[in-house]
Amino acid sequence: MNAEQLRECGHKMVDFIADYYKDIENFPVLSQVQPGYLRELLPGSVPIHPDRLEDVLDDVQAKILPGVTHWQSPNFFAYYPSNSSIAGFLGEMLSAGINMVGFSWITSPAATELEMIVLDWLAKALNLPDDFLSTGQGGGVIQGTASEAVLVVLLAARDRVLRKIGKDSIGKLVVYSSDQTHSALQKACQIAGIHPENCRVLKTDSSTDYALSPESLNEAITQDLTIGLVPFFLCATVGSTSSTAVDPLLALGKITKSNGIWFHVDAAYAGSSCVCPELRHYIDGVEEADSFNMNAHKWFLTNFDCSALWVKDRSALIQSLSTNPEFLKNKASERNMVVDYKDWQIPLGRRFRSLKLWMVLRLYGLENLQAYIRNHINLARHFEELVAQDSRFEILAPRNFSLVCFRLLGPQGNEECANKLNHDLLDAVNSTGKIYISHTVLSNKYTLRFAVGAPLTEERHVVDAWKTLQDEASTLLRSL
Ligand SMILES: Cc1ncc(COP(=O)(O)O)c(C=O)c1O
Repeated sequence: MNAEQLRECGHKMVDFIADYYKDIENFPVLSQVQPGYLRELLPGSVPIHPDRLEDVLDDVQAKILPGVTHWQSPNFFAYYPSNSSIAGFLGEMLSAGINMVGFSWITSPAATELEMIVLDWLAKALNLPDDFLSTGQGGGVIQGTASEAVLVVLLAARDRVLRKIGKDSIGKLVVYSSDQTHSALQKACQIAGIHPENCRVLKTDSSTDYALSPESLNEAITQDLTIGLVPFFLCATVGSTSSTAVDPLLALGKITKSNGIWFHVDAAYAGSSCVCPELRHYIDGVEEADSFNMNAHKWFLTNFDCSALWVKDRSALIQSLSTNPEFLKNKASERNMVVDYKDWQIPLGRRFRSLKLWMVLRLYGLENLQAYIRNHINLARHFEELVAQDSRFEILAPRNFSLVCFRLLGPQGNEECANKLNHDLLDAVNSTGKIYISHTVLSNKYTLRFAVGAPLTEERHVVDAWKTLQDEASTLLRSL
């Protein structure tokens, strides 16, 4: 590592990335390459002699970027956003520069302490109950993804109950969720050894706007108790992946509390919006939860990856995930004076991810972050109005945040035809390269999802996107 060489190459790389952002609207949003395209373009083995940075960057431009789907494009409306920002980027850069591995406090005290402080800041900005702060029995930790977050709390909950009823009872443990819960929970259950027949996926429908009904949870728990099973974990969602459904946390929390069930709240996408006081009501009832998760890397200007998880009882996590090999022993840990985040997560090694969240919070400030969220919500509201004005389309779920679920109406009453029509519309708009949207299925209806949330998206992008959708819809309808 030669500092002057780093300076020179670093400047070139920043220029390259800045130019990428300048040109980003000129790329097809969804990569249009065919599977295997890259093997044709790159040599089959490692270069024996070093290549020049300029040549590598030329290859990135000519060979890599065509195979990139541009998540930072202002015309990216698929899935949920995965934000990047100058502050987030600088934080990532600094983290790469320092490149420490902060698994135990001793391995880089600042990494652990900054993470604790920044997650306390964010917990306060979200108005989370004090029980989630690191000053009490709880605390926050940055996981890579919401999937890791739900896995670690599931393990903590599993082991907490097994300590009471004995390890051999794992086959009796029951997990509850809704049919709108992210598949991350299913994967976590597979990893945690929860028997698949004990995963209750409770049905939702449009009568509750796809929210989990407390009555159906109660019923399922009662049935399971009657046959001697042990209910132990509920995953509720605020802002479901398909349609931004919001489960009623308060009512669900009361049920979990009276049954000794660990209550996890997955607000991976929508959690960010709760820094706005007028949107905070969406997580009312989080007081009842044992753990709460939001992805700062989705809609909070923090470059991937940065998934914030808070727990009320950190000792449950630590009891489940700690190891204490000789080669990691140190005075601070042994005297119980510090947090060792290795015991709050699956891997040992961990990056200095709090730096970028700290940068985002400091360089933008809460007021700007709130304005950022509100702007996207207003843009989504505008898109929703445009859809509502065109009688060929219908809206399929309430727009709680910045996602609009809609579809093109098919010929009268023919659902199969309507589903195919919307599938074709999705393909048609995405192959234009002008925008990228994704889909889901709600009540057996093939549904188009338009998620606003890329940092560069402005009103003109939303209006143009709607025009693209209308044009492609007209073409398809003419061909029917
Ligand atoms: C509600 C919800 N939970 C969990 C996830 C999974 O997120 P991750 O990729 O961070 O595991 C998503 C992804 O979009 C989501 O929308």
